[in-house]
Amino acid sequence: MKKVLSLLLAVVMMFSLVACGGGEGGETSDVTTYKVGVAIYQFDDNFMTNYRNELVDYFKTKETDTVKYEVTLVDGKNDMATQTDQIRNFITQGMDIIICNLVQTSSADAIIDEVVAAEIPLVLINREPLAYDADKKPIVEGYAGILDNPTVCYVGADARQSGTYQGEIVLELPDKGDIDGDGVIRYVMVVGDPENIDAQFRTEFSVKALVDAGMEVECLVEQIGNWATDQGQTITANAITAHGDKIDVVFCNNDGMALGAKAAIDAAGLKVGEDLYLLGVDALPEAIELIKEGGMTGTVLNDHIAQSHAAVDAAVDVLAGGEMQNYYWANYAKVDKAYVDAQ
Ligand code: BGC
Repeated sequence: MKKVLSLLLAVVMMFSLVACGGGEGGETSDVTTYKVGVAIYQFDDNFMTNYRNELVDYFKTKETDTVKYEVTLVDGKNDMATQTDQIRNFITQGMDIIICNLVQTSSADAIIDEVVAAEIPLVLINREPLAYDADKKPIVEGYAGILDNPTVCYVGADARQSGTYQGEIVLELPDKGDIDGDGVIRYVMVVGDPENIDAQFRTEFSVKALVDAGMEVECLVEQIGNWATDQGQTITANAITAHGDKIDVVFCNNDGMALGAKAAIDAAGLKVGEDLYLLGVDALPEAIELIKEGGMTGTVLNDHIAQSHAAVDAAVDVLAGGEMQNYYWANYAKVDKAYVDAQ
């Protein structure tokens, strides 16, 4: 009898727990469904495609019999006005949490203000809004809009590290990147979107690593490719036409543009590793394949798995009533031929 009573009590307690479980989220009798709004700056981006797919998959793994995540993904089409509308829609739709990959980090304050006013936690990913020091130099980690708000966080990686790693991969080559042996590393820099700190820092720190190691460098071309493969191809093709075999290294701020550069290098009948070196960032599967066969010199792992998981973990924690840190960081890693062969 005692046993039956305690069983009954347990059942009653279970029901009452479920009934008052979670202040937010849609609740049916035994399931809480959280609405998650995910705004991506542009679906047509190789890296962010892998990132958002992993984000969705990882949310699935966090579901239980009683907690579900209904994820709504929207494409900002690289237009800030479109993205602002999408965020406003998320607010009207009563999202429980918003994950946002900003089109323009200069709009961070406006977005943060609206989302915070609606009392919705906000996870910013991939494009870091910045604070600046007295010399107008960007500071990683320290943006007031993030630090001032306990329900806002940024998940990303410090792009200075990825630039430095690109430079270090070059320095680790037997000729330290001076492929024609004339004492100067002459390079082409294919820049992502200059509004984005990843592009600024990769451009700066890749070359800084060479200079800090005492190498003489000369920039032949520095041009904006907006992270896009076709623009990487055009910029590199034009650079080859203008400078031909003077080019020692083509640095691309991401692999998407490096894939385009590779097509231009092939079309010009040049060979990576013999005529010039080619570097990217992200470690897209296509880039890793190329490194394996010598078609690219190296890349830097931009860990979309660690970053998407950190974003989801932060969201899941906060939805469960936990607190957010303001910043979550993932590390980059060097990916050259030795690394790929060892995998
Ligand atoms: C990636 C790029 C991507 C960009 C989008 C960067 O971190 O390296 O491939 O296009 O993020 O913001």
